[in-house]
Amino acid sequence: MTFNLEDIISKYQRSEIGSPYPIFVIFVIALCYWWKSTELENPSGLPIVGRKWYELGNGKARQRVRDDCLGIVRSSLQKYGDAFYLYTDSRYRLILSGKYVDMLRNEKRLDFITALADKLVNGVHGFEPMEWMTSDKKILHAVTKHSLNRHLGTFIEPLNEESDYTLRQVWSDESEYHEVMLKDSVWKFFGQIMSRTFINEKDFYRNPEWVNASSEYVELSALAGYELRAFPRWAKRWVAPFLPNCRKLQSLFKHINVLLEPLKDRLDGQKLEIDSKNPLSFLHQKMEGQPDELASMLIALCLVSYDGGGELFTHVLHSVFTNDQLIRDLRAEIVSVVGDKGFNKNTLQGLVLMDSVLKEAMRMHPESVLLMQRIALEKVVLPDGLIIPKGTPLLVSGCHIIDASIWPDGDKFDGYRFFKIRQNADSSTNQAAYNFTSTSPDHFGFGHGSQACPGRFFASYMQKILLCHVIMKYDILVTIPEEGAWFQRGYTHVAHPGLKAHVRRRKEEIRL
Ligand code: HEM
Repeated sequence: MTFNLEDIISKYQRSEIGSPYPIFVIFVIALCYWWKSTELENPSGLPIVGRKWYELGNGKARQRVRDDCLGIVRSSLQKYGDAFYLYTDSRYRLILSGKYVDMLRNEKRLDFITALADKLVNGVHGFEPMEWMTSDKKILHAVTKHSLNRHLGTFIEPLNEESDYTLRQVWSDESEYHEVMLKDSVWKFFGQIMSRTFINEKDFYRNPEWVNASSEYVELSALAGYELRAFPRWAKRWVAPFLPNCRKLQSLFKHINVLLEPLKDRLDGQKLEIDSKNPLSFLHQKMEGQPDELASMLIALCLVSYDGGGELFTHVLHSVFTNDQLIRDLRAEIVSVVGDKGFNKNTLQGLVLMDSVLKEAMRMHPESVLLMQRIALEKVVLPDGLIIPKGTPLLVSGCHIIDASIWPDGDKFDGYRFFKIRQNADSSTNQAAYNFTSTSPDHFGFGHGSQACPGRFFASYMQKILLCHVIMKYDILVTIPEEGAWFQRGYTHVAHPGLKAHVRRRKEEIRL
């Protein structure tokens, strides 16, 4: 959505509100917004890429970034070097090249959570789960680190059972080819599997109403949030009631609260011991005093865990199932490594080709081409003298990860890339550096350093187990839309929702 008065007025005209008051409010908001967005502190005298001198507002600058963020970042890095300001959605952000990744990695004064809060839609009805994603109570971190990461092994069997269940539900056991929408299917898989992980109460995790509502929330909140991002923070709550996706999100969130009411009552009525192996009881205890926030918290967990994960898995499917040799090799690896031993820590670690495929899909398809979002909590001077004033939002370019400037033929998907590097490594090379869960300045899809994604170890288990089920149990013919398998929406990299596949059940060589 562009912040363009004609658009807003035509939207308003289509709506059924009869008074001119909203137009006046929007006009005042637009004026204040334009005035605020002209402010920029730039002590290092960096180049500024944004509004042209003859443009009245920032609308055109924002539109250019929406249409071709990747092209603009690439050409600006070439023209201006390693640092510049770019007008993105509703403000200027400092864009740094990959050269800075190591300088930022453990810099606590450049904060991820504050940046996320700034980007997300806090304080607007319907977006309540976002507030938990950025809360200083860090409950999401606690669940991820103390419940998921500490007990990874206990989640293997539920992940295995639920992968089997969801594939039967969504793709069926039909042995004739039938058409499915790829991204929509993946969203349903993730909704089911994460419900089992976080709730583990059968009436809920097998309730399709909750599973569908939670995955719908994840998709809709991304879209509604993207639309609202065009407005400054202070204006969002006033504009939201006029945007249809925001209104839809509000009623969906209300519905989710109603659906989860019996679960909340059940938890409130039980005296549960803190059991970190059970994320729900762990969460409930941590939220003492705020029981009404259960729905927000569970949705927040869904948001952090399967927004990026679902996108990645969709990219894995369209990349893998267009390469017959890779499928044969992956099947052979699963048979030989998992074989009759089943899934455990060692067999999951032994799926080296699969690990390489996941890492390569993430390299070519990071969530965003601008990563490591941070905000300076105070003035920071980097080792090369670059001054980052307090309050500056910044992002690091991932352009060098997805092109051929570092990785040979890096603009092409090569599922064997990291497998070969690990096979050919001599004893002086740290092979672990090429694992899916490892991060580096040349591959930071999970971020890098002290604020990198803590859920990546669980994500690796989940992606591998689900992928084993898909590869062993289905033949898949992928159809890529004419416009390609993915597109850029601003700096977000999006798997195309129009990706289709014909799938049919095959007889798996081993029992999973
Ligand atoms: C493939 C799936 C996933 C992807 C691609 C992903 C990606 C990311 C990225 C890029 C960040 C920001 C890191 C930075 O800027 O340095 C992040 C942070 C985070 N992720 Fe993930 N993530 C995934 C799965 C998960 C899962 C399964 C969980 C937990 C259930 C999780 C929990 C978190 C949390 C709590 C943070 C905030 C970290 C902090 O504030 O320090 N993620 N993730």
